Amino acid sequence: MPQAPVDFSLIGRVLADDVFADTGILLLGKNTTITAAHVPVLLKQRIREVNVVQVLSEGTGELISSQLSQLEADEEIVAAYVKALDKTRALFDQIDHEGTPQLEEFSDLFFELADQSTKNLGFFRSLYVLEGADSYTYRHSLNVGVLCSLIARLLKWDEERIAFMGTAGFLHDVGKMRIPKEILLKPGKLTDEEFMIMKKHTEYGYEMIKSMEGSSELLALCALLHHERLDGTGYPEQRIGEEIPKECQVLAVADMFDAICSDRVYKGRTSPFEAAQLLWKEACDGALDIEIVAQFVRYIALLYIGAKARLNNGEEVEVILIHADEPMRPLVRRSEEFVDLRFERKLTIEKMIG
Ligand SMILES: [Fe+2]
Repeated sequence: MPQAPVDFSLIGRVLADDVFADTGILLLGKNTTITAAHVPVLLKQRIREVNVVQVLSEGTGELISSQLSQLEADEEIVAAYVKALDKTRALFDQIDHEGTPQLEEFSDLFFELADQSTKNLGFFRSLYVLEGADSYTYRHSLNVGVLCSLIARLLKWDEERIAFMGTAGFLHDVGKMRIPKEILLKPGKLTDEEFMIMKKHTEYGYEMIKSMEGSSELLALCALLHHERLDGTGYPEQRIGEEIPKECQVLAVADMFDAICSDRVYKGRTSPFEAAQLLWKEACDGALDIEIVAQFVRYIALLYIGAKARLNNGEEVEVILIHADEPMRPLVRRSEEFVDLRFERKLTIEKMIG
């Protein structure tokens, strides 16, 4: 029976035994699913390890590393995210076994979470401190949904279009449910042949969304075209410029940002600062829409004021001020002195740590 440390990585795991306090009082019963509220209760009783049920499939507990316990992440929001993630997994898995659920089921689930995320900026920051090797598609779907509605808001689109973008982001990779698991979950780089199969998720997604009750052509197109690039270098149709609807262009930005920020097994983790820099480069090279990227990058940068970051030389600093001209090279504080990254070109922000 596996033992697990009592920290926030325990959320979502199921207790294999009753847990008692020193005084003999039952704290938590066997089969309890640990929530964010349980963790401090156990720690207060100086319980450092508990027996948990072996998880054979992807477990939510894996999602949140002990790193989170070092942060002042809002427990309620983390718990809401974990809950939404579980529901997402259940809903997406239904596609495999019971046919395609109705669109309403996806949008209802997504907006439960979106509500939380717009009320609290801390939620957004939490997205990218959570780590986990598995559950990538589910987590990515939630994140991209949140990012899409955020970008739509930044672009001052109306409420209906903002809501549409949330759903479009949430569903954009739904076609991956038809990709063989050994390719979808392959830890290393895909072979050319595997990549050809993987690319099919855009077409599968289009078909699946089209078949959902209450969906629209544009919603299905968002799945089909989210890997297209303005310069014609994307797939599956190599569309160019305005042949790609604006909604799909927003989705492309959100998708790429989340893919860069999320840790994958075969590449190191990248900070949102670096991810924003990469997006900016893509926009300058003509692959992504520059207006969409500019709005988004500025927002990301502002969001990280007061956050702690690690520089590429290993030093820990605090982000103090974002410059309008170069939002990705902020003024930071290193113990008692200030460093302006605009003038220290060798230094970059490597990782956000809080
Ligand atoms: Fe995709």
